[in-house]
Amino acid sequence: MHGTEPLNKRDSPDSNREDGRATLILTLTLCNVSKTELSKAAKVFEMFETQIHHFETRRAKKPKNATDYFDIFIECEVHSADVSILITSLKRVTEDVKTSREEKVPWFPRKIQDLDRCHHLITKYDPSLDHGHPGYADLEYKKRRAFFADLAFNYRMREVYRKLRSLYPTHACTQYLDAFQQLEKHCGYQEDNIPQLQDVSRFLKERTGFQLRPAAGLLSARDFLASLAFRVFQSTQYIRHFSSPMHSPEPDCCHELLGHVPMLADKEFAQFSQDIGLASLGSSEAEIEKLATLYWFTVEFGLCKQNGLIKAYGAGLLSSYGELTYALSNKPEYKPFDPEVTAVHPYQDQAFQPVYFVAENFEDAKAKLQNYAMKIKKPFSLHYDPFTSSVEVMNTPQKVKRTLCQMKEELKNLCLVLENLS
Ligand SMILES: [Fe+2]
Repeated sequence: MHGTEPLNKRDSPDSNREDGRATLILTLTLCNVSKTELSKAAKVFEMFETQIHHFETRRAKKPKNATDYFDIFIECEVHSADVSILITSLKRVTEDVKTSREEKVPWFPRKIQDLDRCHHLITKYDPSLDHGHPGYADLEYKKRRAFFADLAFNYRMREVYRKLRSLYPTHACTQYLDAFQQLEKHCGYQEDNIPQLQDVSRFLKERTGFQLRPAAGLLSARDFLASLAFRVFQSTQYIRHFSSPMHSPEPDCCHELLGHVPMLADKEFAQFSQDIGLASLGSSEAEIEKLATLYWFTVEFGLCKQNGLIKAYGAGLLSSYGELTYALSNKPEYKPFDPEVTAVHPYQDQAFQPVYFVAENFEDAKAKLQNYAMKIKKPFSLHYDPFTSSVEVMNTPQKVKRTLCQMKEELKNLCLVLENLS
């Protein structure tokens, strides 16, 4: 569909219907239409189980020097959760897509159960599709991916565990080391044992309210970040290919268990992670891109200062022997963590990072991130309710007043406790 012209999306009055379905009126303008190009767009509609109500084509107004332009009007119905990714997918099979109007409050998960709809996978590193994946030509490996309780699983984990663990005392931050010790004591973290997702999830829930949710692979940035808003971490369960135990181009259980889990057991870091998630809800694609970059340079590859030294807290570092050693050598460049700069810094996902961002401490990083998030323009405000683990759109003064009242009550109680203690 090269040379495709604007696709306009108009949100109809029922785009936020109670039944979770949204009606869309789309206008696709295509030029040089061929069967293959049309079928790509059709596949997108098929993939999202879109119900087509109306389909009409007509010759389009020709842009300068162009021929064979067609407008395709489509009225269709799709699940509200899929609207954004449907549009993004259509953009991928076209060259230039514009949306004429955005929904005032787009669909995003409001409660934990809504994460059932946040399952859009990124296929970039899928061993069946990515030629660069070490397991691409390995049918046996791909078959094994479907059965994550394979025997080889235990063996590879042991090797990775032993080598990485030897680096932690000198390379990992104290929050990581404290949690790791707890995980070894209470959660079955040992070189000859693979902890169960449920046990680890229970451990995290008790400490910071975070829980693990099984994910089938690398999720889209929007869906992954949305989960963090509810203190849910989407965790893969398969293991890296045995030919490269010290590196994996995609997240695997070594990365999740050794990289992410210990840090999610720290209260300050857990709040930092949730703040990125909350900032992502209902944000534009451009903002999601920036938040995903921020996530990359902090949660994945972040460094921090501790007792005059630089230590690692990023999961991408703490689960990679090679990059952890490299990141704390004198080879890479260090820059201070500043969300405005970090969010637009180009990142490297095929080799070691040439630049790492160093946080003063988690409290400072959290405050800076909150300032950054407040500047993201959205036509609505959100409030997270930790009692129901859900997000409410603050669209009436009554809702804001009710929340303020609850907060005042809590503050009053805490002030009384403080008085009694002093
Ligand atoms: Fe990760």
